[in-house]
Amino acid sequence: MNKPFKDKVVWITGASAGIGEALALAFAKEEARLILSARRANELNRVAQQTGLPPLDILVLPFDLNDTSKATALAAQVINKFGRIDILINNGGNSQRSEAMQSSEALERQLMEVNYFSAVNISKAVLPYMKRQKSGHIVVLSSIAGKFGFYLRSSYSAAKHALHGYFESLRLETETLGISTLIVCPGKIKTNISINALTAQGETHNKMDASHEKAMLAETCATIILQSILQKKEEVLIGGKELLAVKLKRFFPKWFATVIRKQSPY
Ligand SMILES: NC(=O)c1ccc[n+]([C@@H]2O[C@H](COP(=O)([O-])OP(=O)(O)OC[C@H]3O[C@@H](n4cnc5c(N)ncnc54)[C@H](OP(=O)(O)O)[C@@H]3O)[C@@H](O)[C@H]2O)c1
Repeated sequence: MNKPFKDKVVWITGASAGIGEALALAFAKEEARLILSARRANELNRVAQQTGLPPLDILVLPFDLNDTSKATALAAQVINKFGRIDILINNGGNSQRSEAMQSSEALERQLMEVNYFSAVNISKAVLPYMKRQKSGHIVVLSSIAGKFGFYLRSSYSAAKHALHGYFESLRLETETLGISTLIVCPGKIKTNISINALTAQGETHNKMDASHEKAMLAETCATIILQSILQKKEEVLIGGKELLAVKLKRFFPKWFATVIRKQSPY
């Protein structure tokens, strides 16, 4: 069977759970070589073991997206082991469940750091290698919250909107170097994202939102991301009926303004 990702070197952040874990398993099935990052080394090792890849083909590289000042050194570690990097997936992130007026500056900065600046820093650390290779793929996980603001998501939504401005610009600047950029906008995917979302006090929300419980599986989301990379798509929306809101805002903004106010934040 044709395996277009065979031997490709793929670095996934947020690989210890949810969509990132599903991506790791999907790429492993394709016989890609993987770098798995997140904070929890034990969970990364669990995922690494589940991939069934031999140690030669996998690197567990834990770090905190809240501080990516050492991104260049991390990228150098990847190059030391694999000699190249074909696909970077900026997937790790944290959602928010707090009103703007209750949210501290510290929380707002953390949400921007983890959801926006980390993707910028890690991408900039791998781009020189991709330029040298004359090929590469940068993938970034935005959200439908990157398309419109929503209750309890002010800074999360701001960070996701920022990704579009940055990575659309980066795409224009690097496509002539052989580098492709894909922006992924999931709607609702069944992961622990709502449980892990940060509250005004910077603690975790610790509740599974009803809208996530019945949502698309992370495995399905991962399959669509792999297909979108192969098809060199620039942007992809992934999810269920919640994606209609994106079309509604674009084509019927007044109708959207009424509909969005009736949605539950959970
Ligand atoms: N699920 C959805 O409905 C949905 C919708 C739209 C967009 N998204 C986006 O999809 C991406 C993946 O989310 P998910 O649904 O898979 O969420 P998840 O199940 O909560 O997983 C989040 C991942 O990010 C990692 N992470 C979180 N904070 C981190 C930090 N400070 N440093 C390093 N790693 C960190 C976590 O690992 P550790 O805890 O081990 O660090 C975990 O691997 C996110 O960018 C999210 O915004 C998800």
